[in-house]
Amino acid sequence: MRSLERDPAEATSMIDLIQPLANRLDTLFAEPLFRILLLAAILLAHFGLRLTFYNRLNSMGWKRATIKRIEKIAFAETWITPFVLGWIFFHPILSWLRGEARLEVLPVGVLAYAAFCLVMGGLFGFLWLLWRPIWKIQHVSAKRDVQVHDVSKQTGLTLARTRKCRWAAKLPMNQIFEMAVEQIELPVVGLPEKLDGYKIAHLSDIHLTGQVAPDFTAHAVSIATDWSPDLIALTGDIVDKQPCVAWLHGLFSPARAKDGCYFVLGNHDTRVSDPDVVRDRMTDAGWIDVGGKIETVSLRSLECQLLGNEWPWFTRPNDPFISDESIDFRLCLSHSPDQFDWCRRNGVDLMLAGHTHGGQGQLPLAGPILSPSWHGSRWASGDFYRSPTTLHVSRGLSGVHLLRIRCRPELSLITLRCPGS
Ligand SMILES: [Fe+2]
Repeated sequence: MRSLERDPAEATSMIDLIQPLANRLDTLFAEPLFRILLLAAILLAHFGLRLTFYNRLNSMGWKRATIKRIEKIAFAETWITPFVLGWIFFHPILSWLRGEARLEVLPVGVLAYAAFCLVMGGLFGFLWLLWRPIWKIQHVSAKRDVQVHDVSKQTGLTLARTRKCRWAAKLPMNQIFEMAVEQIELPVVGLPEKLDGYKIAHLSDIHLTGQVAPDFTAHAVSIATDWSPDLIALTGDIVDKQPCVAWLHGLFSPARAKDGCYFVLGNHDTRVSDPDVVRDRMTDAGWIDVGGKIETVSLRSLECQLLGNEWPWFTRPNDPFISDESIDFRLCLSHSPDQFDWCRRNGVDLMLAGHTHGGQGQLPLAGPILSPSWHGSRWASGDFYRSPTTLHVSRGLSGVHLLRIRCRPELSLITLRCPGS
């Protein structure tokens, strides 16, 4: 164990910086209870910063294998660092907690790391608190009628195809098979009057892995089609496993919408041997691939643009089109909500996205924590507005993780409304 006496030769400018701060904290947190709270805050910040890193890492367009490798190293480091530091410096920390020693009994490197956690954890913690759904900052107030379908009971089918899935489905509070069919009246700033009442069925994050029976997706497609929408939109992560590519035609060919069914791909669609085969199978099933494209379409006789943004895993349109004033309405299908600013820069009126799965789980009041986005859990799910774009983020229908807590799979049936109508 390291000597508690510090060698004077170690004196550095960092010590000059850290020790006065440590002395100030010693004075401020003189009571053992306050010291315990300070230690808890440092630990909370340590874990919070790793979560912040995890969310950003998964928003990158890097290869999945690379991200998973970094994730494993980061996960190990998350637990090893506090455990090793706690083990090596157990007695000095205990003495400090009891008020028998000052913080300077710890090496300057440990103090610097604790200060880093407090400062950066405080900064990211503040931003995390700021974007909690309960504050409704930049949220759109949309009328919602939610019906929960216990798909297994309604179809009479066994949805779990594997032992792992059967086991997961039985976990208390797990909602993987409780589909929330949400009829949303969504006010869209800039919506032409002619499009008031326009109906879009929005599906996202199908994640055909083979764990869940395709009947779950078929149920969603059937409800979407029965609703008689003007348009059906699918925002990526369609298939994870190669054998499930064979399911695509049977699952998606029954979909019908007056102005067509459109799709983009997501990051999980890179897991099959050739994502272009997914595009081909979807196209064969009657769907229109807008990935990386701009389609000019006539919606209720208005000239509109449909944009497909698959960035950063595939492509996004790069033609400058905002100056085209003949366009009455722009709708963008994007896998990731991180493209919100891109949509805003390019004059998109309505953006539909998925990818974040609503956080896969939501805490009471605090909402989601895990969310593979550069903005963390800020856009994990829901309806948002930042001029000139309205954004709807779906929680998606499934996922590779067979667990959803307070975060039901979502099928959105969106009716567009002129604000105030
Ligand atoms: Fe997904």
